[in-house]
Amino acid sequence: MRTHYCGELNQQDIGQVVSVCGWVNRRRDHGGVIFVDLRDKKGMLQVVFDPDDAAMFSLAESLRNEFVLKVDGIVRIRPEGTLNKDMPTGEIELLAQNLQVLNVSETPPFQLDDDEVHDDLRLRYRYIDLRRPEMQKRIQLRAKVTHYLRGWLEDHDFMDIETPMLTRATPEGARDYLVPSRTHAGSFFALPQSPQLFKQLLMMSGMDRYYQIVRCFRDEDLRADRQPEFTQLDIETSFMDEEGIMSMMESMMRGLFNSVVGADIEGSFPRLSYAQAMERYGSDKPDLRISLELKTVSDLLADVEFKVFSGPANDPQGRVAALRVPGGNALTRKEIDVYTEYVGRYGARGLAYIKCNDIDQGRDGLQSPILKFLPDEAVSEIILRSQAQSGDLIFFGADKAKIVNESLGALRIKVAQDLGLVEQGWRFLWVIDFPMFEYDEREKRLTALHHPFTAPSTNDADELEANPGKMLSRAYDMVLNGTELGGGSIRIHTTEMQQRVLKLLGIDEQEAEEKFGFLLNALRYGCPPHGGIAFGLDRLVMLMAGANSIRDVMAFPKTQTATCLLTQAPSPVSEKQLRELSIRVRKPTLES
Ligand code: AMO
Ligand code: AMP
Repeated sequence: MRTHYCGELNQQDIGQVVSVCGWVNRRRDHGGVIFVDLRDKKGMLQVVFDPDDAAMFSLAESLRNEFVLKVDGIVRIRPEGTLNKDMPTGEIELLAQNLQVLNVSETPPFQLDDDEVHDDLRLRYRYIDLRRPEMQKRIQLRAKVTHYLRGWLEDHDFMDIETPMLTRATPEGARDYLVPSRTHAGSFFALPQSPQLFKQLLMMSGMDRYYQIVRCFRDEDLRADRQPEFTQLDIETSFMDEEGIMSMMESMMRGLFNSVVGADIEGSFPRLSYAQAMERYGSDKPDLRISLELKTVSDLLADVEFKVFSGPANDPQGRVAALRVPGGNALTRKEIDVYTEYVGRYGARGLAYIKCNDIDQGRDGLQSPILKFLPDEAVSEIILRSQAQSGDLIFFGADKAKIVNESLGALRIKVAQDLGLVEQGWRFLWVIDFPMFEYDEREKRLTALHHPFTAPSTNDADELEANPGKMLSRAYDMVLNGTELGGGSIRIHTTEMQQRVLKLLGIDEQEAEEKFGFLLNALRYGCPPHGGIAFGLDRLVMLMAGANSIRDVMAFPKTQTATCLLTQAPSPVSEKQLRELSIRVRKPTLES
């Protein structure tokens, strides 16, 4: 139907007779001439209708936003003074010779260029929302990313293999989405939280290098970077250690960023141990674009009379840390109150501070309600450690280390954003040396920090059992600009170790056989050493697109409460369907 895309025409096409198709973005009537901005996936083109052709002109007068047109015409240069530098096709226009209305449109529920439209309305009419040039660009970027990644992986001998969607629960730590079985009353499939066990089984099947761009399902509380169904770039390889896998993934990312966004990412990605990341940034996914760091000062405060500090300073699980805010001296009481309220959301019970007016004057140059509680030596060492200068402010967190890390870690980012201290660019890193287990206070048992198939840093199961709380794992996370892009590990590849780890996690032999019998069995028949990683594709594209939420880079995302506003899913089903599935819940059904 068309010879060209609207957005691709340019000065070189002047004088050519062309046909274009697209949507009416806007119609303007200008003293006897009608202008229509016609939009397609490549951009916008100005079409001009002259009154000379009365029939076509009157048809053009009836055009409304989002009508679908085919226009034939001649490309011409725009008259002097009407050039539009903001538009890629702004130097030319199409003089219409023939107009065909391919379809009409009702008045759209929102204007495409209106920035204030409520998200719910956009999601309900997602097909209109996706017509916006910004959304078109994001979806196109996503396709470029997957195209590049597939190419790279194929070039490196990775094979695309599909794994089941109707399967058993895999323990990635979230709640499962369940699918009732009609043929086995009372039994359920789980949608995969990830293809973890299948990709390991593929290594045991001799596939050597696997990848899949795959949908994963997790019923968890949603946030800007979490959706109930999301996409992983899932990877597994045999006969490679963590060094090999990490350096291979680095070069894939370097290639991707270079090819798709033209960024040069030089050198190898820095590596931080989990412990260092927590100590310096209060987070296992630190944003290295921000240079501010937390400094532990517990050792200076064990004997002070200020209980808020001395309590956590003497608690083995406690931490007192300082965060320097450059130029923070200028913060008002009210601004400090806002930050205090902010850290409160992370469980902090207060936010002590010292303002540094003039550090050369010692105590007299400082200002703080808590100064009176602190001895000179502690104060001067705090200034030294936090690297505070005159004009700065130092914030303090004192509590259980978990609370201090979470609250000051979040404050570090907030303050940097507020004060414009976030640098530009792509800051990748690996976080390594994770603890193997975490102690779950509520359930009073160990849980796996990564997942139960991750290998510990020792091959000696006795050593692991002797001190599980202290043991590190062979897991690694790739972090970009404060977002966890991906995580993976070297896996356990012997039955013995797998059984012992499951046992430490409180899964006894019988339960292990029930839940993971197929895996334990497979480990017995010649399992190669293997490992892998999975990247959150939505998160990756979100960062590359500069979007704020992964919803902005998914064609049909769900709402914050895990519903699809477009199709109104989930929805009640008929009594008959429920009966077939042997489900007795009565309400609400379609009939009720
Ligand atoms: P993990 O659970 O760390 O590892 O997931 C890997 C990556 O997937 C992304 N991700 C999500 N993205 C959007 N919405 C969600 N709800 C969501 N949950 C996770 C993150 C995360 O880094 N099987 C292991 C991988 C392995 O060991 O190879 C796994 O799934 O970017
Ligand atoms: P208070 O003794 O409650 O008056 O607190 C004195 C100062 O210490 C105030 O600035 C509080 O915000 C701060 N503060 C209280 N509890 C904590 C805490 N757990 N961590 C950091 N600062 C705190």
